[in-house]
Amino acid sequence: MTARDTDWDGVRLHVVTGKGGTGKTTVAAALALALAHGGRKVLLVETEGRQGIARLFDRPPLPYQERKIAIGPGEADDGRDHGGEVYALAIDPEGALLDYLQMFYNMRTAGVALNKLGMVDFATTIAPGLSDVLVTGKATEAARRRRPGGGYLYDAVVLDAPPTGRIGRFLNVTAEVSGLAKVGPVRTHADTVANVIKSPQTAVHFVSTLEEMPVQETIDGIEELRAIAGMQVGGIMINMARPVVLTREELKGAPDVPALAAALKGAGLHNSDELAAALADELAEHERHVELQDRERTELEAAGQPVYELPMITEGIDLAALHRLAAELRAQGAA
Ligand SMILES: Nc1ncnc2c1ncn2[C@@H]1O[C@H](COP(=O)(O)OP(=O)(O)OP(=O)(O)O)[C@@H](O)[C@H]1O
Ligand SMILES: [Mg+2]
Repeated sequence: MTARDTDWDGVRLHVVTGKGGTGKTTVAAALALALAHGGRKVLLVETEGRQGIARLFDRPPLPYQERKIAIGPGEADDGRDHGGEVYALAIDPEGALLDYLQMFYNMRTAGVALNKLGMVDFATTIAPGLSDVLVTGKATEAARRRRPGGGYLYDAVVLDAPPTGRIGRFLNVTAEVSGLAKVGPVRTHADTVANVIKSPQTAVHFVSTLEEMPVQETIDGIEELRAIAGMQVGGIMINMARPVVLTREELKGAPDVPALAAALKGAGLHNSDELAAALADELAEHERHVELQDRERTELEAAGQPVYELPMITEGIDLAALHRLAAELRAQGAA
């Protein structure tokens, strides 16, 4: 195992949020792979019951059960290092409630009966705060779970969490259930969960693209979490960054249309005027794009958290692409 420091060495629960569609599920999966180096065991948890992880890894829908879905990268540098393992779990509130009943009251069977009667649906619908605490409870339980030898079963747990608009309420479990239960097992459970979430063992990472809305949501989300005592804001993962073909400096030095036309003509091309105009348009478009990306990046950097940047993979996201993104995260110190 490599002894290299990463930015999040003490963190065991990585929560990944961000605006919808910015790549939370993809980045959470890449982060899980990145963390699963050197024989480590990582659990990737999905919370919204949409089977995004199964789709991503090209697997049939995941049951409410931890399943091995991928092997982490091996590192040949010390000759002994081998890839770790990524397990995945799709949590839904119903399954989590049944689990909870089993764990605390040893009454899964009763829970299943309640489920058949629609009681579980009912309970999670009237008390959305309850279903959040059940989901976060399952993730924190996995992060704390020990193996028979005594050490932690999972070296890290990565949570593909709800989007920025919901993340504060989702994670602020004590506040959410305080209206629900002041005493009793639900309250005790919520307090245990909160102790893990609001500790240095948990970090909340934000995925953003270099566009105005996701950047604004990231900045607002960071501010919201900073206001909750004990919550640790993690890194900002810029996703789907487009390659910069020409830097701003190079663009500044680009020839004007007549000069372009002359150069094209000199190269023996017909329609050199038309071509020059089209090229100039492309250059201007690229310049606007580079400027916009730079502006959004600067805003994200101003938040003062570590920033990582992941490229847009034009061929689409498959397992090889996930490994590529994982390698980027490792190289930039995120895992
Ligand atoms: N770095 C990338 N390069 C290319 N495509 C990407 C990249 N990251 C994500 N995508 C694609 O963008 C789309 C959205 O990604 P993803 O499902 O991970 O986002 P999400 O934030 O989890 O979305 P939702 O809010 O719906 O859960 C997917 O089609 C995914 O394959
Ligand atoms: Mg998703």
